[in-house]
Order: sequence, then C-alpha cells, then structure tokens
Amino acid sequence: MVDELVTLTIDGVPVSVPKGTLVIEAAKQAGVLVPHYCYHPGLPVAGVCRMCLVEIEKAPKLQIACAAQVAEGMVVRTQSPAAKQGRTGVLELLLINHPLDCPICDQAGECELQDFTFQEGRYATRYSPDYPKRFNPVEDFGPDVLYVPNRCILCTRCVRFMEDVAKEPVLNVSERGDRAYIGIHTEGRLDHPWAGNVVDLCPVGSLLSKDFLHKARAWELDKTASICTGCSQGCNVTLDTRDNVVVRVRPRPNLEVNRYFICDHGRMNYRWMNRGDRIEAPLVRRDGELHAADWDEACERVASLLRGAGGRAVALVSPKASTEALFLARELCTGLEWTGAFQVVMGEEAPLAGVPNLALRAERAPNAKGAELLGYSRDYAAAIAAAASAAFVLVLDEPDLVVRTAGTLIYAGTVLPEGARHAAVVLPIANVAEEDGTFVNRDGRVQRYFQAKPAPGMARPAWWVFSELAAAAGRGERLANAGEAFERISASVDGLRGLAPV
Ligand code: SF4
Ligand code: SF4
Ligand code: FES
Repeated sequence: MVDELVTLTIDGVPVSVPKGTLVIEAAKQAGVLVPHYCYHPGLPVAGVCRMCLVEIEKAPKLQIACAAQVAEGMVVRTQSPAAKQGRTGVLELLLINHPLDCPICDQAGECELQDFTFQEGRYATRYSPDYPKRFNPVEDFGPDVLYVPNRCILCTRCVRFMEDVAKEPVLNVSERGDRAYIGIHTEGRLDHPWAGNVVDLCPVGSLLSKDFLHKARAWELDKTASICTGCSQGCNVTLDTRDNVVVRVRPRPNLEVNRYFICDHGRMNYRWMNRGDRIEAPLVRRDGELHAADWDEACERVASLLRGAGGRAVALVSPKASTEALFLARELCTGLEWTGAFQVVMGEEAPLAGVPNLALRAERAPNAKGAELLGYSRDYAAAIAAAASAAFVLVLDEPDLVVRTAGTLIYAGTVLPEGARHAAVVLPIANVAEEDGTFVNRDGRVQRYFQAKPAPGMARPAWWVFSELAAAAGRGERLANAGEAFERISASVDGLRGLAPV
C-alpha cells in the first residue's frame, strides 16, 4: 500500500513525505540537518535536549523538530533568527559544565557537541572563567564501556537503548538539575551482548570504548564499508583503519539487517585481520620442501597438477570465504568428480530483544548460506574421509585443517596451519579486510564488502588466485575484478541467479 503523502516546505524547499513523518526526518529529505542530541532514529523519541528547536509557521512558540509531525502545507524555518537564538541558548546551557578537554577526548573530530557548536555559532560563554565546573570521576560501566560524567549532556540515548532496545534497564538518570548524571544499577553492569552500542549512540565523549581508548584521532581514520564476519546475521559495518591497521569496527545502518546496531562479539572480531604471521609468498614443493616462488611458477605448478589429475577432487573450504572464491574454487575442479564441504563454529545465540530478526546467531560464520547455495555440504567429516583417496584436494583458508590424502594437496590460505605443511603448493590469499567480495547472509541477502587495507607481501584475493589457476589450466577465463566473478555467479547459480549485490 502506498503511504499517504504530505507536502510541506522546509527552509523554502518543498518536500513530500509519508503522513506521520517527524519534521526532523522530513528536513533530511530537504537537505537540512537540524541539530539534535537526544533524537536518534533507532530509539523512542524523548524530546529532552531541546536542541532541535525550529520555527513552524502559525505555532505560538518554537517547536522541537524531533517530536513534531509533518502536516499538509506546514512551513518550517530552521534558520530564522528565533530558531537560531533558541538553539544557541540551549548550547549555552549545555556548555556551562562541559569541560574543555577536546584535545584529549576520544570523541574529538566526531563529537556532535563540537560540530553543532561550530555550526550554530556559540563562540563564548557569559560565565566567568573562574566558574568551577561540575566534576565527577570516571566510572567503569562494563567490560568495554567507560563513563566520563563531566562530558555527559544527559541526552538519555544510552538509557533508552538499554531500556527499550536491549530490554535490560541497568542505566538511569540519577539526581536532578545540574547534579544529574547517568547512574548504573548497583548490581548491574553494561555486559549485555549488545551493550557496546551505547558508545556509538553517545553524541559526545561521555561513553567510551576501552578497546579503542587513545588508539587514534578521528581524523586519522580511513573508513571502509564492510560486512561483519562474526555470524550469519550479516550486519553492515564500517572498518576504521589507521595506517593500514584495522582499529575499530562500527555499525553501518541497514534497516533490513541490523538497523543501527552491532553486537559486542562482532565489534571485537577484528584483531585477526591484522595478524602478523601471514603467508606472504606462494610456496612450491621442491626436493621435498616448500620454497618461495612467484605467482607464475605457482600457477603453472597447480595447472600441471590439475591437468594430470583424474577421478575425485575434494574442496574443504571456510564459510568465511567470499562467494566469489567459493564459486571459482568449484569451477577449478570442473571435469573432476567434485565434493565440497565446510564446517561452522557454533556458539550461543544472543538476540537484541527490541529489534525483530536481529541476533548474534549461533552459526559463527558469514557465508555458510553462500557455500550451501554453491553446492558445498555441511558433512565435513565425510569430505575429510573422501579426501584420503582423492586425486586432488583443495583447501581454502581452513585454519584448523588436518587432512591426509594420497593425492595432491593445494592449500590457499592467509596463514599456514600445521596440518597443511605437506601441501604440494601453498597460495597466499587476502583476508576480508584486504579484498572486495560478497557474503550471503542467513536470510539469503547478498551483501558486498570492500577492501580496507592492502594484503601483505604477494597475497592476492582468493577469487583472483582461482581465476588465474583456472586460466593457466585452460578451464576458464581470467577475471578482472570481484564484480566480474559475481556476474558469472548470478548468471549460473540457482538461488543467486539474476542477483546484484547490495
Ligand atoms: S552518557 Fe552519552 S548517551 Fe548517555 S546521556 Fe550522557 S551524553 Fe547521552
Ligand atoms: S550479530 Fe553477527 S553479524 Fe551482527 S555484529 Fe554480531 S557477530 Fe557480527
Ligand atoms: S533532539 Fe529534539 S529535543 Fe532533543
């Protein structure tokens, strides 16, 4: 059903939005960001900070844009002298007690108090420089959350998240007036599996992640759109890198998958992306030992082994590999009797109670669904047994691999597990932060992720490696990028046919 549309004017720009839309959201459609603190689209409206004051024609006084709904013919002015004066007044009150510790605050550079003070133009205080600002010591709120009360502007986003979204109301507003602060239940901790979201929600540097503390200034970070690999939910994330090291994972809004949130397991699941013990060059077995080689030699060796192989091929793959890599690994075995399998680490399921269909899933892998659609089986034990007598065994980034085979083992991975040291050829591949690719989440949604940092040494994306091997063995054409690989998938794989990744 099409929503009934309402037309209004915001700063002279006409917009049409569905009936019931809040003025603050309608303003975004007119290209206007109304300053705000307590409002967040993922939380119930509170209307407590008064920062979003705007002038609405025919209304007797300034209105808060986060609580006012649009009406037909409404005329909204966000930049009128009255609206601007209202907002700078609010800022003056907020800044009375706020410390000037931006130079040492982790939020500096991405702080909404800095941004809106700059935007609105509250340049000075009327308070005496000798005014003693409120002081409260820093508190430890949970495994990864510190509370710095001096910086708190009491927007209550954190309180509402824990109460209405996580459904574990451990935070409150204690005391009143200028003594108010965020209190935590005497026997409570911010240790809910999704508690880390309060750090993202806090508009200032009052709630901080211990993990990220003093790791980087906001302006030093490069940001890359990615997909969390922590479970099969497929939450959209941003990887923050500093000098090509991943230092932070933050949620990227996707209303269909994770809204504005990620769980703490996914948030902390990045250190392995920076591992230093990577395979950095192709390794080829000569005189019984593995020796470093260039890609030409490694590809030629695999191609000649493939050309000579007949009978059964077994592919043991990781459900953390991209859809493109899994598809091309299968293509490489064309003409052989093919078996493919994967195994998934399982854990405890942890739902975010206030959001339907959002949970840290028991299946701790991002692409098990993609592997299944491509014909890989979950019967890993049977594939390991079949590998014993197979002519050709390919393994794709399986860190726990232990396989014995009478045939040839080719291992493509980021690190070399003990159980793969007898491989004929070892091929270094990029990890998820070092390549473009797609995963298919548990609901069948194909989602694209992008390269955030370079791969070490001569490591290359797995899709590139398999496309080169297939070309060298005369079993396919070289592909230029991951997008071309996905085009081949969407042209030929049932369940993914005709799809384009989003
Ligand atoms: S700690 Fe942050 S999110 Fe919580 S009330 Fe204070 S400013 Fe708002
Ligand atoms: S729910 Fe799963 S995909 Fe989402 S952040 Fe957590 S681990 Fe990552
Ligand atoms: S954002 Fe509207 S009152 Fe706080």
